[in-house]
Amino acid sequence: MKKIAKQTYIALAGLSVLMGTVSASAGPEEDRLKLVAHFKNKFPDLKFDDYIYSALAFDPDAKAQYNSIMEFPPYTSELDKGAKLWKTPLKSGKTYADCLPNGGKMIAGNYPIFDDAKGKVVTLEDTINDCRVANGEEAYQIGDDKTLGLISAYMRTLSDGMKMNIKVEGAGALKAYEDGKRTFYGRVGQLNFSCGNCHVDNAGVRIRSELLSPVIGQATHWPAFRGGDKLTTLQERYKGCQYDVRHTPDKPGSTRYNNLEYFHSYLSNGLEMKASVFRK
Ligand code: HEC
Repeated sequence: MKKIAKQTYIALAGLSVLMGTVSASAGPEEDRLKLVAHFKNKFPDLKFDDYIYSALAFDPDAKAQYNSIMEFPPYTSELDKGAKLWKTPLKSGKTYADCLPNGGKMIAGNYPIFDDAKGKVVTLEDTINDCRVANGEEAYQIGDDKTLGLISAYMRTLSDGMKMNIKVEGAGALKAYEDGKRTFYGRVGQLNFSCGNCHVDNAGVRIRSELLSPVIGQATHWPAFRGGDKLTTLQERYKGCQYDVRHTPDKPGSTRYNNLEYFHSYLSNGLEMKASVFRK
């Protein structure tokens, strides 16, 4: 996202309605259904399945452009590098496919999970790292887009077509979900905006050249390749949005971002995944 003038945000804040904000005590499924109903009311013509396109769903021209780019994605060679890393045996001689459930296929939509034994949220990237460590390798840095990013960009395509299926079960899981929800609805930065202000209250509104996407569906297609070949993970996107409201973001892999990803991903439950898509 390009730098946006402060006045634009102030205008946006003025437009803000609180309708879509979920109450603190509602359970995850109640939260999600309330948001689905909120957007259905706001965008009666938009089909549930189309939320996977984020802001493109509001803009037929941009969607047509996206479709044509996706026929021959400019980042295919990056995905090939990811496939090569994915297939390279680890020190133990095993591969990631040996180490992950179902050979790593059609599982991405289950992540992040809450791991009761560890007492924390575990992302798919963490799981890839756990696999490395268990097989004699060192963990990659979370957010390293030359290694872990490329592996996950390829691996997640093995779950294309899976429906997001995040589970929040048990007290620990609920606590992490609630923490993510607080981050999502908490106002931060010099501009004092929450994620919800933009992606719930003002979804469909244009700020400068960009239409704001609804939160539902936002978690279905990562990493994305921005501007052609810049691999961007979901948590890097969080960082970008926080920079834009002049807030000092976290590092990818922080507990706060993992919990945010857990909450945020839950809200895309029931929607089809397609990894490694093009974004502006
Ligand atoms: C001031 C408004 C604003 C705030 C606050 C904001 N964003 Fe964004 N966000 C944008 C804009 C603009 C874009 C690019 C257009 C779009 O896809 O919505 C974007 C894009 C995104 C995308 C990518 C959507 C896609 O499919 O490509 C995600 C995910 C996202 N934001 C999540 C968040 C989260 C989580 C927060 C809170 C940490 C947040 N945003 C806060 C304005 C905002």
